[in-house]
Amino acid sequence: MGVSGSGKTVVGQALARRLGWDFYDADDFHPPQNIAKMAGGIPLTDADRAPWLASLNSGLVAAMAENRPCVLACSALKQQYRQVLQAGLGQVQLVHLVGSYELILGRMQSREGHYMKPDMLQSQIDALEPPAGALSIEITLPVDQIVEKIMETHQKPRMGVIGMGVMGRSIALNLQRHGIPVLGYDPAPKFPDGFPIPLAESVIALTASLSSPRVILIMVPAGPPVEDVLGSLLPALQAGDIVIDGGNSYFVDTEQRQRRLEASGIHFIGMGVSGGEAGALLGPSLMPGGAGPAWGVIQPIFESIAARTPAGQPCVAWMGSGGAGHYVKMVHNGIEYADMQLIAEVYDLLHRGAGLSNATLAEIFADWNKGELQSYLVEITAHILERKEGITDLVDLILDEAAQKGTGKWVSQHAFDVGMPIPTINAAVEARLLSALKVERVSAARRLGGERAFEGEQDELVEAARQALYASKVASYAQGFALLGTASQEYGWELDRASIAQVWQAGCIIRAGLLEQVMAAFQRNKDLPNLLVDDYFARQVLACQPAWRKTVQVAVGLGIPMLATTASLAYFDSYRSAVLPANLTQAQRDYFGAHTYRRVDRNGFFHTEWDKSS
Ligand code: 6PG
Repeated sequence: MGVSGSGKTVVGQALARRLGWDFYDADDFHPPQNIAKMAGGIPLTDADRAPWLASLNSGLVAAMAENRPCVLACSALKQQYRQVLQAGLGQVQLVHLVGSYELILGRMQSREGHYMKPDMLQSQIDALEPPAGALSIEITLPVDQIVEKIMETHQKPRMGVIGMGVMGRSIALNLQRHGIPVLGYDPAPKFPDGFPIPLAESVIALTASLSSPRVILIMVPAGPPVEDVLGSLLPALQAGDIVIDGGNSYFVDTEQRQRRLEASGIHFIGMGVSGGEAGALLGPSLMPGGAGPAWGVIQPIFESIAARTPAGQPCVAWMGSGGAGHYVKMVHNGIEYADMQLIAEVYDLLHRGAGLSNATLAEIFADWNKGELQSYLVEITAHILERKEGITDLVDLILDEAAQKGTGKWVSQHAFDVGMPIPTINAAVEARLLSALKVERVSAARRLGGERAFEGEQDELVEAARQALYASKVASYAQGFALLGTASQEYGWELDRASIAQVWQAGCIIRAGLLEQVMAAFQRNKDLPNLLVDDYFARQVLACQPAWRKTVQVAVGLGIPMLATTASLAYFDSYRSAVLPANLTQAQRDYFGAHTYRRVDRNGFFHTEWDKSS
């Protein structure tokens, strides 16, 4: 790439000969109307370029699909053009040929018969957005030396993965499978024999072996380990390199790291990675955010390894600046906690409350997974419930104390900070905390416990529970997406919630059929305040309402705790109430603390001298 006259064609042809690859000159693919415009001295508009770039991209994608790597010479002046060109290509090395105005002008003046007139050079220079992550080469060098420099880069791996634990090595294998050579580093590697990813001896050796600009993916636990890696990595990096933190880091840490690295010209990206080991290996859902200019460089890499939605779209999209990527992953995990808790509560109601066996429930969950509850978590629940150890169901042998690494708790803490109600997610975090009080619960059960038998129709309860699970899940997604909307405004991220729903449709832990409708709801109205008021979801939830209430009533009657399900229902009831008893709360605040209140009949703030004698 480079402005007209920078020598792209000559260098590109020489490079293609050296590599034995095909060569394409993008200028040869302009439609006649574009050539006529340029020959007439009229600069092309973005609309003129759009069909040309799209057809170049489909040609390149087709060539790569047939395993025909190629060299393309194209001005590719703007980031948005480069994005279209690179979409779906996997590994792309951008080479930017740079030279002074005078040198290029001289070359343009000496070439004959070219439709690009020398006086258009300035408009090209004005349009140029210098690419992040490109190999920049001065065109004062002779062509063979330029080709040599490109070859030096080409022969080195481009991506480094630091932290080769389960997630790091699975993602490294995924990258390698997609033709992206990877070099790994781990201070204490534990690999199976014959593991096919080469390893560097040290962080310094890793950085020295990677081509520039380096792309380094850090896959270590959040917190101090990320700082340790950055401490040893940064002195060995240079401006233009890209560092990606693929762990579950707290988004505020990510914002700070991005600002810190920006000062030395290093692009920092915080990328949420979801899907566990299998996702990382076969297709994760990816939520990158941070240093925007670097996205164009890594986009084709991550689009090639990400999961695909049922409609074939890659489950990766740019979330926004700063900590946007890790923020979205954090909210994903809050919804994950809620989904898991809602499923567990329904299981508890039907198993402990209504006496259905694990085997029967395995069939019920498998059946639910064929309908509107279709999701990864419902699917694995069916598998878990049918698993035996000897003659015992394995699930009955697992201690009922849930652990957590903290991402769910962060969502609750942050939602309190921005003043956004997410009671279902909060309840799911609380339910894990309650589960951890095992010793106290066992002793309290002796003092306070007492079983009540379910006396209704099992089949009716099963169907009611299915609808309650669906409606509760919608209410929980409504909370998560409302929180995303608020955070987006608070941090100026401009989060695209339709695109987030798309990225979550496959690969991640909360993948679910429902997300297609969530995406459609935000496509219909990107400013939708709450999913519950979208036409589709309003109809769905209202239809489930009687069954939802019945389920909660039965659970309350039996003494089966449904913290998250009841929180979802209460959220629904609060959100749809034009009037809430906060008038009384305000009166109480004014009574004991003179905090004032507002009135429904007059503007302003009021205080009453309450009669406190009684
Ligand atoms: C994912 C998961 C993954 C992991 C979390 C949750 O999207 O692949 O969210 O990141 O399961 O660490 O862990 P806790 O339940 O321990 O908080």
